[in-house]
Parts: sequence; structure tokens; C-alpha cells
Amino acid sequence: MPFPSLLSPFDLHGLQLANRVVMAPLTRARSGPDRIPNAMIAEYYAQRSSAGLIIAEATTISEQANGWVESPGIYTDAMEAGWRSVTEAVHARGGRIFLTL
Ligand SMILES: Cc1cc2nc3c(=O)[nH]c(=O)nc-3n(C[C@H](O)[C@H](O)[C@H](O)COP(=O)(O)O)c2cc1C
Repeated sequence: MPFPSLLSPFDLHGLQLANRVVMAPLTRARSGPDRIPNAMIAEYYAQRSSAGLIIAEATTISEQANGWVESPGIYTDAMEAGWRSVTEAVHARGGRIFLTL
């Protein structure tokens, strides 16, 4: 096969992707005013876990970095736990996910 197909696996520097479909990051503004990733976000990404790789939405690393209404952060323990529930939901379905900082 001279060219791999879109649905063939890909080795991303040791991270095995089921296929070559990569979901682009899309700001969803669904984290609520506390900016903590919630069950709705976990469901949203889990539903898309058949992509080879999900690039999750822009996520802020500090209070000062916030520039969009109800976008998620990852600068408190609660936010980290929220994202952990998202990644676990994706991994449970065999998906892979990167976070955009
Ligand atoms: C509603 C919307 C939200 C987006 N949010 C993000 C984001 O959070 N982070 C990011 O890096 N890019 C974001 N993008 C850019 C997309 O990831 C993508 O690069 C862009 O839509 C161009 O895609 P294309 O090259 O397939 O046309 C967003 C685009 C749209 C339309």
C-alpha cells in the first residue's frame, strides 16, 4: 500500500492512534461561570472518541488568562479533577485526547 488510508492506525511518537482523523480544537463555552469541566463536557468528548485524536478546546492556565465566557480552565484542583473525568470518559471508549493550553 503506497499511501496509508485515513482509517489506518498511526504511531504518534509512541502514542497509538486508532486512525488518522484528528478533531480540531473548538471552544464550546460550556464550563459555566466556575470554568470547571463538567459531565456535559465529558459526554461531548466521549461521543467523539472514535477520532484517532481529539484536540480539546482552548483551556486557560490562570485567572488572568481567561478571555472567553464560560471556557474551561486547568488552574485549580477542581478543574484538574474535571478534566480527569473527561479524559477517563474518552479513554474508556478507546479514544485519545490532548488539551490545548
Ligand atoms: C467555533 C470555533 C471555535 C474554535 N475554538 C478553537 C480553540 O478553542 N482553540 C483553537 O486552537 N482553535 C479553535 N478554533 C479553530 C479550529 O480549531 C480550526 O483550526 C479552524 O476552524 C480551521 O479549521 P480548518 O483548517 O479545518 O478549516 C475554533 C474554530 C471555531 C469555528
